[in-house]
Amino acid sequence: MQGLQRLEYRGYDSAGVALVAPGMQEVAWRKKSGRLGNLEQELERHPMPEATAGIGHTRWATNGAPTDVNAHPHMSGDGHIALIHNGIIENAPQLKFNLQAEGYTFASATDTEVAAKLLGKVANEVIAQEGAPDLFKAVRRVARMLTGAFTILAVDSRQPDIVVGARHDSPLVVGLGDGENFLGSDVAAFVAYTKEALELGQDEAVCISADNVEVTDFEGNPVTEAKRFTVDWDASATEKGGWDSYMDKEIHEEPLAVSDTLLGRFSVDGDLNLDEVRIDEDVFRSIDKIVVIACGSASYAGLVAKYAIEHWVRIPVEIELAHEFRYRDPILTPRTLVVAISQSGETMDTLMALRHAREQGSRVLAICNTQGSTIPRESDAVLYTHAGPEIAVASTKAFVAQIVAAYLLGLYLAQVKGTMYRDEIRQIVDNLKAMPEKIQWVLDNQADVIAQTADRMAKAHSFLFLGRHVGYPVAMEGALKLKEIAYTFSEGFAAGELKHGPIALVDEGEPVVVIVPSPRGRDVLHNKVISSIEEVKARGAFTIAVAEVGDPDVEHYADVIFWRPECSTLLSPLTDVVPLQLFAMDMAKLKHYDIDKPRNLAKSVTVE
Ligand code: F6R
Repeated sequence: MQGLQRLEYRGYDSAGVALVAPGMQEVAWRKKSGRLGNLEQELERHPMPEATAGIGHTRWATNGAPTDVNAHPHMSGDGHIALIHNGIIENAPQLKFNLQAEGYTFASATDTEVAAKLLGKVANEVIAQEGAPDLFKAVRRVARMLTGAFTILAVDSRQPDIVVGARHDSPLVVGLGDGENFLGSDVAAFVAYTKEALELGQDEAVCISADNVEVTDFEGNPVTEAKRFTVDWDASATEKGGWDSYMDKEIHEEPLAVSDTLLGRFSVDGDLNLDEVRIDEDVFRSIDKIVVIACGSASYAGLVAKYAIEHWVRIPVEIELAHEFRYRDPILTPRTLVVAISQSGETMDTLMALRHAREQGSRVLAICNTQGSTIPRESDAVLYTHAGPEIAVASTKAFVAQIVAAYLLGLYLAQVKGTMYRDEIRQIVDNLKAMPEKIQWVLDNQADVIAQTADRMAKAHSFLFLGRHVGYPVAMEGALKLKEIAYTFSEGFAAGELKHGPIALVDEGEPVVVIVPSPRGRDVLHNKVISSIEEVKARGAFTIAVAEVGDPDVEHYADVIFWRPECSTLLSPLTDVVPLQLFAMDMAKLKHYDIDKPRNLAKSVTVE
């Protein structure tokens, strides 16, 4: 149950467990729709027997509504086997049809029950052939029969000392304990018990017992090169630790996320380092275009980085939503560097786009926050963001860490391509190192005005967010935060686009949030954004500005100002996004919404 609690952020519309122990005739199981708390109550009402092995699942419904019956685990026809599953089994209708023709009946509307019934049948066939149960063999056989994306885990009451798993296009990590072993969608599931972990590759199956771990491919050939790693954060990092919500905690961890992502990036002679690099420096030197593939907040981090990388490296940077990228015919060459940005490392849309890019001959570099996840494993190089585990569904600290990592990549390319002097690079890195303090200043000094503004705005039906240059992706990120956790309609626009349509939305009292660039030099960028505030103000908008301390112009036009310390335009997204995250959180708090687990969403979107 503790493991499930730590994974609940991945999906929270139903949960269940199944246990096996020597002497049990059938698997023992309980499952309940709704939050994990419902399952906890069910276990109090109907306690489970002592057991030697077990599986548990929290669900984000993809196939069948979130009801008790559709919750996992699902059982084989004879009750010996329980199975849980993440992903979507695409050939489930066909398999179900065949099983029904053989007399199998189904209680649920899920593809998972089809896999469970199929596994029950195959396991009995294995017993008939070999004279003894072999769940590992049966799971591999079933894995070969399934299409789509899946991780399946199963227990069998006839082999009460093992848990068997298989994965195809969906995550599964092994935790290596002392006299106990674990399987989890990510390391958060077992980090309280062990930090030693094993990555599983695509199309691999695993059988664990208390003191053994065996990995094979789906044919049964042993896999010996499975990669071991040590998790570099501890269990307390996944706990709320006195904060009202994980989101609150994670926003306040942003200074640390930025400094940790910068840590240890430089060799003694001043060269920048990536993490795992399977790309020659010569190849980096030859790169003539970057395509960033990502979804949601990660794509906005990529858009911020575009402004910096094009400026520093003088090569075009395109941003493409991963789900759009794959289904058109993108122009990729061996000289294109594809950058996949993903907090979880498991987003299916991004993974599929990455594979497509590699098939076209491009190199892929991953910017990722999760060790042992699929996206970095399938990439040619990795730059890890060291934000620590992000539990709240709405991304906050990972977003700022992604910007920092993408900037490091830009500086690295500037270094190998010689488009900047070392001193310039070092200066920017020094400025980046000063950012944690500036973010801290916003957290320490602006929380009150942000909370008061949320109070004033609690009844607003919609918000517009405006920004130019790097302020534009920040505006979109601010709007996304408000949508996803406060369920308030909000949209981010490039400020210059206002007069091309969106200004028609502005009416008396309409809240408009404007990201104002640095006033230093009062350059075109700053003046243009000030004009945008004037324009919406003239039409009755209630204006909220995010602006640099001491900006003399903004006070004339903005009704409320969230201040941030002085910093260069390119680095300002790291501070400017902070008040917007706090604002969305305060709005959600006022409405008594579940900040960490907003409706209809899941943290890792492992289906397309
Ligand atoms: C928004 C949010 C999502 C993710 C997106 C990609 O707060 O969290 O938009 O950014 O689903 O997820 P990752 O980064 O895990 O690939």
